[in-house]
Amino acid sequence: MVKVSKLFGVVVLIWISVSLWRSYKNNYISKQQLMEQLKRKTSFISNKDRNKIHLNQQINSNNQDINSTQKQETFQYVCDKTGTFNGYEKTNRVEDLVIYSEMPKCGSGTLVDIFQQTARRATRKHLPTYHTGYTYPVPHEELYQWNKRLNYANGIFEETPPYLFLGHLRFLDFKEVGHKQPVFIDLVRDPINRTISAYHYGRKPQFNERANMTKAETKMSMDECFERLLNETGCVGARDLNKCLHGKKLTACKSSGIVERMTTWFSGYGSEVSVNKAKSNIDKYYLIIGVTEYYTESLVAFGTLIPPVFNMNPTTLVETYKTISNRNVGRNVKQPSAKTKAILRNILSEEYELYQFILQRFLKQMKCMEIPLRSGK
Ligand SMILES: *[C@@H]1O[C@H](CO)[C@@H](O)[C@H](O)[C@H]1NC(C)=O
Ligand SMILES: *[C@@H]1O[C@H](CO)[C@@H](O)[C@H](O)[C@H]1NC(C)=O
Ligand SMILES: *[C@@H]1O[C@H](CO)[C@@H](O)[C@H](O)[C@H]1NC(C)=O
Ligand SMILES: *[C@@H]1O[C@H](CO)[C@@H](O)[C@H](O)[C@H]1NC(C)=O
Repeated sequence: MVKVSKLFGVVVLIWISVSLWRSYKNNYISKQQLMEQLKRKTSFISNKDRNKIHLNQQINSNNQDINSTQKQETFQYVCDKTGTFNGYEKTNRVEDLVIYSEMPKCGSGTLVDIFQQTARRATRKHLPTYHTGYTYPVPHEELYQWNKRLNYANGIFEETPPYLFLGHLRFLDFKEVGHKQPVFIDLVRDPINRTISAYHYGRKPQFNERANMTKAETKMSMDECFERLLNETGCVGARDLNKCLHGKKLTACKSSGIVERMTTWFSGYGSEVSVNKAKSNIDKYYLIIGVTEYYTESLVAFGTLIPPVFNMNPTTLVETYKTISNRNVGRNVKQPSAKTKAILRNILSEEYELYQFILQRFLKQMKCMEIPLRSGK
């Protein structure tokens, strides 16, 4: 008798598991189905605004010396209506693992909140959604070792799919450690503004000790810091500041914030760190990289492109954004002088090249998906 009831229990358990799995499968909308749904939905932005897309406009006020006509002529990537570029590698990928590689100081804190809250709301309504969890800290130096990268990638693959990784993980090539490539996304910001933000962030009390800053140093303005930096290195008036500063001990401006980061971020852990390597990784593996200067539009694009998207329409992330406190994006920080900005532009010349590439790619993608631009300048 005992045996029979045990057997019965096992059968019931199996039946329940199979039913649950089926209902999960049915609710798990494929990207194609989603795109069909999207086509049927009317855009939340009126057609009047659609004409506001001017690819040739001078978008970047920090960046006036870049010849935008020239930049567009060299941007030859082609995307289809789903916003996917011709260079994007579709084969050998896992669609239910999304990695938000979270380039720092680009409005990422808010974006992480938006993703998490959207997922939480979907869960409350019993809708299928991503599992998320904020990963902090993400290892960095140790990931230069192949076996550490392998372990780390294995760990991420052990998470229950669909999984949305959130954390400051620079590009990690999963193929190189024997996995399929996940779907990468990120968000970047105008390099000077990113650096200004990083500079002030790095001077917050919680980081002072780590950077070993004196009280005076934490209060130092960017203008003073750069004046000291150039003076002490003898680089005043140098044509190529990167060349001049290279290998010099920098005691003024103690902060990791002032260095070029975007190129290394997207080059990843391979031996080659260059703008071209970064571009190539982005081209092949990044589904989309949003731009802080077009924050709302970036959210619409994420909502449209990320498979299988929180099971909602493209405006969902924007709706969540409206309800959370906008604590980091565009926070008012003191702008440095034009002279300091010129110094920064010199130091960040490579980062600007990459940023321009990402910006043009983003604008092209928005055009392909017919997502109008509103918040941009
Ligand atoms: C940089 O930030 C300032 C202040 O928030 C803003 O006025 C400016 O438009 C930003 N520059 C770019 C290129 O977005
Ligand atoms: C920008 O580059 C294009 C193509 O190289 C050139 O024809 C044009 O004169 C340049 N414009 C400016 C303002 O330098
Ligand atoms: C911090 O600064 C003090 C005094 O300038 C110095 O003695 C100490 O070695 C520094 N520590 C680190 C970790 O740089
Ligand atoms: C620049 O450096 C020199 C010598 O180290 C010093 O005498 C001078 O006061 C410095 N100027 C500024 C503006 O820091």
